[in-house]
Amino acid sequence: MKHKDTLFATPMETSPFEFNAQVADVFDNMIQRSVPGYHFLLDVIAVLAQRYGAKDSQCYDLGCSLGTTSLRLRQNLPASCHVIGVDNSAAMVSRCKHNMARDHSQASYEICQQNIQDTRINNASIVILNFTLQFIDDQERQTILDNIYAGMNPGGVLLLAEKVCFDASEQQQLQTTLYHDFKRLQGYSDLEVAQKRAALENVLVPNTLQQHRQRLHTAGFKQTEVCMQCFNFAALLAFK
Ligand SMILES: C[S@@+](CC[C@H](N)C(=O)[O-])C[C@H]1O[C@@H](n2cnc3c(N)ncnc32)[C@H](O)[C@@H]1O
Repeated sequence: MKHKDTLFATPMETSPFEFNAQVADVFDNMIQRSVPGYHFLLDVIAVLAQRYGAKDSQCYDLGCSLGTTSLRLRQNLPASCHVIGVDNSAAMVSRCKHNMARDHSQASYEICQQNIQDTRINNASIVILNFTLQFIDDQERQTILDNIYAGMNPGGVLLLAEKVCFDASEQQQLQTTLYHDFKRLQGYSDLEVAQKRAALENVLVPNTLQQHRQRLHTAGFKQTEVCMQCFNFAALLAFK
């Protein structure tokens, strides 16, 4: 396989995980083999685009990586919608622009290299945070959700997908064990699992579902619903 993720297959010194060119080159394969439920969420995004993508509104993909979510949005939105993909990794943004340019759906789009902390949300019917908030400093997460809520139109929806943790230590242990079993089933070795985990320490910082719900509520979202949970990965829909 040309773009198989083998980045952590040989013994190495631990250094913090980054969304650099090497990661961008194998990212499609990495996320599909590392995030249980990822394919289902792409279908959820298509469903949301069809149901909530209001004519003449904007749809945001915050932390767009290679553009997989932006493409799903664009392919399922009314032609008068505008998709805005945002990512702060230059390696991701250049590949994302290339991927988007090959798609000829009618909805317009732009891909911006920017911190999502600086993204102004405006006239939004849909906002997607697909495994991005977990990489943002914990102190900044509430402000991001506040800004999203402020820029959304009434009736709009936010999809927040994250790796989550659990208050009860038995549950935390069980879900982590099952998740690592899932990764081995995808062909990752024990060494790969251990080295990736070490690289993500303090880079990907999960919250509990309860913490996410509390933040969404504080931002103003009245209704939140879990739409996916696979081991320690979960997604919430939040409606304005
Ligand atoms: C796990 S990936 C997201 C996957 C993508 N949403 C998808 O559906 O395929 C996280 C992305 O968030 C980006 N990112 C992390 N922190 C960011 C920030 N502060 N601002 C913008 N992008 C950020 C990373 O560069 C990376 O591409």
